[in-house]
Amino acid sequence: MGSCFASWSYFIFHVLLVSQYSPANSWKDNDDGHLQTMPKQLEHGDGPSPLMNPLLNLFFKMNDLKQGKRIPIYFSTNDPSTSPHLLPKQEADSIPFSLSQLPEVLEFFSFPKHSPQAKAMEYTLSECEFEPLMGETKFCANSLESMLDSLKGFFGTGTEFHALTTKHLSKHSALLQNYTVLEVPKVVETPKMVGCHSMPYPYKVFYCHGQEGDHKLFEISMLGDNGERVEVVGVCHVDTSHWDPNHVAFRVLNTKPGESPVCHFLPADNIIWVASPAVTN
Ligand SMILES: *[C@@H]1O[C@H](CO)[C@@H](O)[C@H](O)[C@H]1NC(C)=O
Repeated sequence: MGSCFASWSYFIFHVLLVSQYSPANSWKDNDDGHLQTMPKQLEHGDGPSPLMNPLLNLFFKMNDLKQGKRIPIYFSTNDPSTSPHLLPKQEADSIPFSLSQLPEVLEFFSFPKHSPQAKAMEYTLSECEFEPLMGETKFCANSLESMLDSLKGFFGTGTEFHALTTKHLSKHSALLQNYTVLEVPKVVETPKMVGCHSMPYPYKVFYCHGQEGDHKLFEISMLGDNGERVEVVGVCHVDTSHWDPNHVAFRVLNTKPGESPVCHFLPADNIIWVASPAVTN
């Protein structure tokens, strides 16, 4: 089960890192810095209190999911006008996509070798080329077609699957505020799931990885203190006994490995793929 630890803490790490270093903020504005410094702080808690990071307000406890419960959450925003575009497969396939070809890719996009963009692209490519851990499925997709092909492989031919995402139902502003759970959360039953999150890159690249068992998925209808409505996808990792005791989630939730499930809400640019029909109740 060691692989579960690695892949899921990795996932949470990605949620935080990628949201923090989102292309929308960094790509055009030349805003550097977090890529190198964030991970260490988040993982080890050194330096100026990492708990001050509003993105950490995505963690929650499973028993918080009660109707009427108020939970402080921070949902970041993505400006579609500056977000990278999804490329058609043909176009994506015509651009080199590997660490060894990074110099050519940088030249193609006219980014200097030591620019923050170059660092981010190197980061993304190396994450994508990292060998999956035993029992884990992982892949990067540089187009929708390639994502669907890999998903078919994961779920098996003949199995249908569909996407779950967090949806902002009204105008959304990035703000740390309390959200009230409006209804009894829906439980989504699925034996297998794949989480895909977008990576910092000049065009849309998804980092996806698959899981079997040991998780609970919820769809939660919520109302922000400012009147915002949001349909939130939440994932809980049930058995945390093999997680690193220093994992930031334990500090945020004030708990210990194995004591209670660790859950997190998904930002709107993440996708969870589940086998259909997923039974909801
Ligand atoms: C959320 O509500 C609690 C009381 O219910 C309050 O103490 C806390 O400051 C609120 N948090 C935010 C971010 O508004």
